Amino acid sequence: TTVEWEAESYDMGGHDTYMHKEIHEQADAVDRALRGRIDDRFSTVHLGGLNLDARDARAVRRVKILGCGTSYHAGQIGAQMIEELARIPADAEPASEFRYRNPVVDPDTLYIAVSQSGETYDVLAAVQELKRKGARVLGLVNVVGSAIARETDGGIYVHAGPEVCVVSTKCFTNMVVAFGLFALHLGRTRDLSVADGKRIIEGLRKLPAQIEEILANEAQIEKLAAEYADAKSMMFIGRVRGYPVAREASLKLKEVSYIHAEAYPASELKHGPLALIEPAMPTVAIVPDDDLLEKNRAALEEIKARSGRILAVAHREQEKADHTIVVPKNEDELDPILMGIPLQLFAYYTAKAMGRDIDKPRNLAKSVTVE
Ligand code: G6P
Repeated sequence: TTVEWEAESYDMGGHDTYMHKEIHEQADAVDRALRGRIDDRFSTVHLGGLNLDARDARAVRRVKILGCGTSYHAGQIGAQMIEELARIPADAEPASEFRYRNPVVDPDTLYIAVSQSGETYDVLAAVQELKRKGARVLGLVNVVGSAIARETDGGIYVHAGPEVCVVSTKCFTNMVVAFGLFALHLGRTRDLSVADGKRIIEGLRKLPAQIEEILANEAQIEKLAAEYADAKSMMFIGRVRGYPVAREASLKLKEVSYIHAEAYPASELKHGPLALIEPAMPTVAIVPDDDLLEKNRAALEEIKARSGRILAVAHREQEKADHTIVVPKNEDELDPILMGIPLQLFAYYTAKAMGRDIDKPRNLAKSVTVE
């Protein structure tokens, strides 16, 4: 609501940049995204503006998520959450690509447009094209009353509060949380059990305190950023749940530090990018304690064998890595919400060490409202 928006002032409150301020607002922002939405009685959530009743929700056969930049990455995590919790096939695509390829618009598909500003032209144009063809489109938007919020059939407000820094941090996190809520809601209208619903709700409730725990580790991350700031290029890897986290972390580093970074699925390393691995090309690896842990460890070994430096973000110390940032464990499905947060700080401190204009990186705009 507007009241919540005004509660957060635009001044920097002692932070040197909006990016730093917004990174530190994440526990509160997530708390706000959860507030008033959890229904413990039925182990589900209420999303007031969704405009999708249980019968509609059960009729959805596919979910297609559209967004640009960071919002697209949030959508990739969202798609995985929807597949895992609701068992509905889901995927994300850049809205800009979607609108130029004459997509097949299917009546049983639920479309979700993701946008911080709610004004990104490529996303808005995709929404308008979908509406014209009779599709059902929801918005997952931060700015209340924005163009995309108005043009969609219903949606979920992200409630991240105002985000000023050009690169998105707290809004990304809140988008992923909003997707978690939506996936839980869809799941509970279908086959997700009460017990699993409870488990996810407990996981969601733990997030704000776990975010504080990650941010309390800031000094370690600052040191690590200094250690890796000499890299000309960095590789980010992750597998399944960790892959979109790696993509977003690589985008963050590129945007604010101008260090070249690329993200790859860990499993694809051997099909090409392994050729790049050498001491001057460090790797940041997302290594959650889930059923793919051993696979991810094997990838670290492959990199070590080629004398690559490794910074792992993991739930426990990784012996194959040169450094590990340990993050608190949540439910497997919700881990992606937390694992990128230390890498926001990593990008911030790298950019700071290089004297970059952190809140306004060259050539970029907060929202791109033209074609
Ligand atoms: C611009 C910004 C990105 C943002 C993207 C989508 O490119 O620089 O940070 O992710 O637009 O913006 P939106 O407001 O639609 O989320």
